[in-house]
Amino acid sequence: MLEIKGLTVKYKVEGKECLALHHLDMKLEEGDICAVIGPSGCGKSTLLHVLSGILSDYSGLVTIDGGPVDPKQKRIGFVPQNYGLLEWANAYDNALLGLDIKHESRLGQGPYIEYILKQLGLWDIRSKYPSQLSGGQKQRIAIARSFILKPHLLLMDEPFSALDAITREEIQDLFLEVWKENKVSTVFVTHSMEEAVYIGRKIAVMSPSPGRIVKVLENPLFGAGNLRLRDEYYRFVMELRKMAKEEWSN
Ligand SMILES: Nc1ncnc2c1ncn2[C@@H]1O[C@H](COP(=O)(O)OP(=O)(O)O)[C@@H](O)[C@H]1O
Ligand SMILES: [Mg+2]
Repeated sequence: MLEIKGLTVKYKVEGKECLALHHLDMKLEEGDICAVIGPSGCGKSTLLHVLSGILSDYSGLVTIDGGPVDPKQKRIGFVPQNYGLLEWANAYDNALLGLDIKHESRLGQGPYIEYILKQLGLWDIRSKYPSQLSGGQKQRIAIARSFILKPHLLLMDEPFSALDAITREEIQDLFLEVWKENKVSTVFVTHSMEEAVYIGRKIAVMSPSPGRIVKVLENPLFGAGNLRLRDEYYRFVMELRKMAKEEWSN
């Protein structure tokens, strides 16, 4: 469904060119989840900005279902690193923004919307505004928005980074539950090895800046259940950490 060949992105900073991504190749099959890990500054967010259509100044080939990236044609859900909330809209309206932009009715969606907001611990604060909320609460609104949209392609940029450990685990499980129901094709950026192994069916490892994908692993533990209680999980995380360290120290 998603194919990237030779993606190269350069930013201009004070007249100088800065190479952010260099010949990045990647594929995502329909219904797959790819966790992308990479060191800070390697271009993870840049990659998602290209895929979400925010950044169109690039070279290389990026196609979704064989066509160009066009958020107007494709339902692309994006949880940006800075949450992307409207300050003048309350939590409820922010969570439904994806539907509103697509001019889709909120009617008939009520029970699902309520379920998602309750599961994310947002129901009781739904009339509050972003300025009255914590970082973790804002992050959960951005996640709710993407779940409520039921996108064709879901892009998440370190979506659980502002959450405390327990909430983070609960919401990782909620993500997997929602994914199982809808099988949304997902690209998930994280710098956490544990999270990549918990959530990714595939794990793509990026090089340091300028970023490209240097390895793609099939996650043998994906969907195995009760992962956090299993030794294999921690062993695989350790192997991944070792491998990534080698890639990133070159
Ligand atoms: N809007 C921008 N203008 C100039 N340089 C940028 C911009 N956004 C990102 N960069 C640079 O591009 C590189 C990749 O950034 P980013 O994609 O945010 O990395 P990551 O998300 O992996 O931390 C970094 O060197 C960063 O400083
Ligand atoms: Mg980033």
